[in-house]
Amino acid sequence: MPKLIVVSRDGSEKTVEAENGLSVMEAIRDNGFDELLALCGGCCSCATCHVFVDDAWTDTVGGPGEDENDLLDSSDHKQASSRLSCQIEMSDALDGLKVIIAPED
Ligand code: FES
Repeated sequence: MPKLIVVSRDGSEKTVEAENGLSVMEAIRDNGFDELLALCGGCCSCATCHVFVDDAWTDTVGGPGEDENDLLDSSDHKQASSRLSCQIEMSDALDGLKVIIAPED
């Protein structure tokens, strides 16, 4: 199963297993991180699942889609590496992916 490295807002880092086909948001939430609210449940309408993709992974993960990018614009913390974690699907190609949970808006 692919591994996902999650950096919490306090800077602590934890490696979790993320089943293929799950979104990064679901993998984070299922592993007990309560700071990722994911209020809309993954329908790309809340932006509370905002993460920064580690620099080493931005090319592999790719950038946000148009709707996702519009939502990210509503965040005060948007960066070039910003993504909504519900819009990234885990796969073997993302084994070892590292994401940082963005500050709360
Ligand atoms: S969970 Fe709402 S946009 Fe990702």
